[in-house]
Amino acid sequence: MGKKSIGARPYMAAMPAVLVGANVDGRPNFMTVAWAGVACMEPAMVSISVNKNRYTEKGITENRTFSINIPSSKDAVLTDHCGMVSGRKEDKSELFDVFYGKLSSAPLIRTFPVNIECELYHTADLGSHNLHVGKVIDIHVDEDCITDGMPDPAKVDPLVYSNGSYYLLGELVGKAYSLGARR
Ligand SMILES: Cc1cc2nc3c(=O)[nH]c(=O)nc-3n(C[C@H](O)[C@H](O)[C@H](O)COP(=O)(O)O)c2cc1C
Repeated sequence: MGKKSIGARPYMAAMPAVLVGANVDGRPNFMTVAWAGVACMEPAMVSISVNKNRYTEKGITENRTFSINIPSSKDAVLTDHCGMVSGRKEDKSELFDVFYGKLSSAPLIRTFPVNIECELYHTADLGSHNLHVGKVIDIHVDEDCITDGMPDPAKVDPLVYSNGSYYLLGELVGKAYSLGARR
């Protein structure tokens, strides 16, 4: 089978859909982010890529903190809404029950199963977007979403974003660092 070039694009097969939180102009604001990932093991770091025009960007750079809130599939409507409307036009803090953990300027969404508090560690100016690397300060997980001390993917039921649509997490294929031994 042949290959077809689709050109240079910001593409990944599957991404997490999360809400990034920051305090902007004295109130919590949340924006949808699909360009998010893990950046370092020790110390624990995560990354988000944020367009320089986003209202949330102002809060991240001013406070040097942000949060990553992982929705369940039941939160899909609110998650998409926060990606359609800017905090410049609508007070998105009204949509959520907000709480704070160790960082006083990283707002967290109580009804989302996982909340990650981050201190801004490094920003790389890449062009349209700033790639922010955040040092993880703490992670809050709903007790009923934990199995063996870790967030359980089946219970968290995260939203997967791909090519303009949201999906559920699929079925288990096998255990990592284990399946490969069969080769
Ligand atoms: C599924 C989805 C994923 C998105 N991912 C990103 C992203 O990774 N980075 C980004 O800058 N904007 C992303 N956006 C767009 C912002 O969420 C959107 O512009 C939002 O209204 C910005 O809010 P704010 O101005 O209140 O910060 C995404 C939107 C959607 C719907």
